[in-house]
Amino acid sequence: MSESMAIRGGSPLSGAITVQGAKNAALPVMASALLLRGRRLTLERVPNLRDIHTMSDLLRHLGAEINFENGRMTIDVPEELKWETPAELVRKMRASSLVLGPLIARCGEAVLPLPGGCAIGSRPIDFHLKGLARMGAAIDLEQGSVHAVTSGLSATRVTFDFPSVGATENLLMTAALTPGESVIENAAREPEISNLAQTLRAMGAYVEGDGTGTITVRGTRELESATVRIIPDRIEASTYLLAGLMTRGDITVNGINPEYLAALLSKLREAGVDFITTPNSVALDAAGKNWNGVTLTTSPYPGFPTDVQPQITAALCMAEGTSVIHESVFDSRYVHVPELRRMGGKIDTLGNTLIVIGVPKLSAGEVRASDLRAGAALILMGLAAEGRTVVRELKHVWRGYENLMEKMASLGARVELLPVEDGDE
Ligand code: EPZ
Repeated sequence: MSESMAIRGGSPLSGAITVQGAKNAALPVMASALLLRGRRLTLERVPNLRDIHTMSDLLRHLGAEINFENGRMTIDVPEELKWETPAELVRKMRASSLVLGPLIARCGEAVLPLPGGCAIGSRPIDFHLKGLARMGAAIDLEQGSVHAVTSGLSATRVTFDFPSVGATENLLMTAALTPGESVIENAAREPEISNLAQTLRAMGAYVEGDGTGTITVRGTRELESATVRIIPDRIEASTYLLAGLMTRGDITVNGINPEYLAALLSKLREAGVDFITTPNSVALDAAGKNWNGVTLTTSPYPGFPTDVQPQITAALCMAEGTSVIHESVFDSRYVHVPELRRMGGKIDTLGNTLIVIGVPKLSAGEVRASDLRAGAALILMGLAAEGRTVVRELKHVWRGYENLMEKMASLGARVELLPVEDGDE
């Protein structure tokens, strides 16, 4: 069953929120616990989200013992692990594929049902599989599952066709438990990769170059218990800043390193939006302000993040002028467009490019979330549009936004959860 929320929009948000731990750092770091044998990984500032619980269920299924409260998580990993992953969990969350590398490195075998595509595109895992094959895993695809087996992995050089976040993370973890020197070229540079690298170093692996396109790993057969603090969630921070902009309010986002937001902040500056940064906060005051349209292309970090594309598309629906947005990371991250149109957005799509013509007023309406960031974009539209908006299928949004209702209400948003209606999924 998935709830809906009613939003009475049109009034400025104001106040401060503290950023949650990053979902997309916590998930790979949790998976890296599988590299340990009879030891414990402790994580701090883990966000309380659906996806975190899905990953916990998966790790428990494989044999780990997990305690999680008030942001602190301990993962105790036994000597023996299961290495077959259940389809119902893997299908729920693509990030389940992050257990593939650790299981092959740790158990010499792994079975993973192919993660389904989802609302934002096909999302294969061919880069992951090619990299693992390069390290000596034999990969079979049978009945929609990957079956990987090895009699021993060997450190090697892997070059990615595309700086895939998940593939980089899988290979990093695999190499950390493989003696010898591995080099990952054309690696993803996201801050979440560095949080994982920091974890692997704390476990006793040598990892250097994370944050650049070339990462060197010297692995070892036994890794040690470790403790790691999860970095702040740059996508959640971006979403709240855009909520402040679209409602012409003033928002301070605390506990975030503005460098993680450099691409978004530079686009906002280009649009004529002012903000003030300190080493761990960004404050934006949009009272009485307008902003102009911009041109942007999403690209791997440090480029403009694809996970903020739906949200900035919503903000540019209210710009003075036209914007051109090119989505280059996913092959079809546009499912939010028809719903944004329903709320008054004037958007044309030309292949992977959106043309957005700004309008002075949005119109409240009833819309449906299709994926996590599309749902976030619709909530932003509802906060900005005068009148009552209802956003359905909030199950997508609970995957990535901790305490969303409380945080929004603390900023003055008039939001309420609606009882689940018949016919809601
Ligand atoms: C991570 O997904 C994030 N998820 C995504 O966030 C994010 O959108 C994405 O990186 C890009 O930044 C997590 O970290 C859990 P990719 P991931 O591998 O690793 C194609 C959110 O909203 N590709 O960098 O799956 C793929 O189809 C989520 O929190 C292949 O073709 O992203 C996509 O078009 C949504 N073959 C592109 O590369 C592969 O083997 C980028 O994918 C792998 C990826």
